[in-house]
Amino acid sequence: MTLDYYRRLSEIQQSPRTWLITGVAGFIGSHLAEYLLQLNQKGVGLDNFSTGYRDNLEDVLGSVAPAQRLRFKFMDGDVRDLDTCRQACQGVDYVLHQAAIGSVPRSIEDPVYTSSNNINGFLNMMVASRDAGVRRFVYAASSAAYGDHQSLPKGEEEIGRPLSPYALTKYVNELYAQVFKECYGFKSIGLRYFNIFGKRQDPQGAYAAVIPRGFAALSAGEPVYIFGNGETSRDFCYIDNCVQANILAATVQDQCALNKVYNVALGERTPLNELFFMVRELASRADNGCSRVEPVYMDFRAGDVRHSLADISRAKVLLGYLPVYSVRQGLELTAEWYCKASHVRSV
Ligand SMILES: NC(=O)c1ccc[n+]([C@@H]2O[C@H](COP(=O)([O-])OP(=O)(O)OC[C@H]3O[C@@H](n4cnc5c(N)ncnc54)[C@H](O)[C@@H]3O)[C@@H](O)[C@H]2O)c1
Repeated sequence: MTLDYYRRLSEIQQSPRTWLITGVAGFIGSHLAEYLLQLNQKGVGLDNFSTGYRDNLEDVLGSVAPAQRLRFKFMDGDVRDLDTCRQACQGVDYVLHQAAIGSVPRSIEDPVYTSSNNINGFLNMMVASRDAGVRRFVYAASSAAYGDHQSLPKGEEEIGRPLSPYALTKYVNELYAQVFKECYGFKSIGLRYFNIFGKRQDPQGAYAAVIPRGFAALSAGEPVYIFGNGETSRDFCYIDNCVQANILAATVQDQCALNKVYNVALGERTPLNELFFMVRELASRADNGCSRVEPVYMDFRAGDVRHSLADISRAKVLLGYLPVYSVRQGLELTAEWYCKASHVRSV
């Protein structure tokens, strides 16, 4: 962690701000809320539970002190509704917009639904934030924006053609952010998340991400499927690194840092086979039977890119971002949560 980050944390602790987190019942949103409440910030959370869980909110509220819990207000609502967005933005300093339908395969099955949530919802949140005069709008962009761009590592300036409706919606968000700067002088920062992982990431359903899916399958004694030959690689990034990037983006003072997109990743590439062996080793601490499980290889999925690796130098230089958790450390912190219970959730 950089000195700058410590300074920023201490500033907001001394003079607490109000943060709106959309998608607060989801994986990343719930971590943002937890961390900010622990820093004695005021939080407003908005979610419609389309892919998020009440259990996540209970987890968050259970992990903070009673006084911190009282600083949190939850709104059960939908970003596709402009009035809801306006209501949520009242009196807010910083918006961390996470609400979206985040699955590539789901977007291929239902592009209209993904588009209405990810583009119309985004636009509503920008309009509401602009009109409420929020200080900064930080939004979840995606490494999917790199599309079919081949070279590695990925620098923010060069992208390819989108490979899925999901990727397109995330890129449209970036374009809207630029247009809002040109037309209204609106201040925003986009964070192109690479594969973020940690506890509370949904292990269930057809659209689950690879790490929660792996832990869940091993704990349940079910086969672990890998799409492709296992040499496919990703820049996996532990959630606390992502939280750091959000807080830095919301509070950075340097005007040169505004109205840009940033890669949020570790800056290292892990092949899926290597990831599988780490996950298997950690899962077998809870159940030794896992240590003999071998992955089942499936066809590559449409819309998936083969390799992904971020150049994180822009975030380092302009935001002061410095990821502190390696993939291994992140998995160690994640494993216990997945292996403890099967995490069957109630909505
Ligand atoms: N997890 C990753 O690795 C990753 C990578 C790239 C980008 N992202 C982006 O980060 C954001 C958060 O992702 P996540 O992994 O936490 O996903 P998630 O599905 O766990 O969280 C998304 C949350 O948004 C809520 N939501 C969806 N549509 C909504 C709507 N119309 N109104 C209100 N709430 C709505 C869902 O109920 C859910 O709680 C998303 O924008 C996603 O596209 C995530």
